[in-house]
Amino acid sequence: MSNPGPDWYLVGPTDALDEEDVMPYDRDGHEYAIYHTINGFFASDGMCTHEEEPLADGIVIDNVIECPLHQGRFDVRSGKALSAPVCVDLKTFAVQIHDENIYIRIPQ
Ligand code: FES
Repeated sequence: MSNPGPDWYLVGPTDALDEEDVMPYDRDGHEYAIYHTINGFFASDGMCTHEEEPLADGIVIDNVIECPLHQGRFDVRSGKALSAPVCVDLKTFAVQIHDENIYIRIPQ
């Protein structure tokens, strides 16, 4: 199977992203963050909700992304803001794996 359907976009091969790592994905001028956690692959908006810092520069710990600027934390599975100074949740996006490739769903 190739592309899983409308609104799904190829990010890249699964082996391009180690477990407990994060990478940026740009589409139409918008940055997303793609995570590989102990529970699989997840995706969110790429910028921290505190001060627009790229989360792809942060650290993945279990299912949490820690922002590199002020160490605010989000659960990447739900986008929930977990610790100060972040208080606004992250927007998350569905992810599927097909043929060892990562796809993100970005509704139009
Ligand atoms: Fe992310 Fe401040 S910019 S915690």
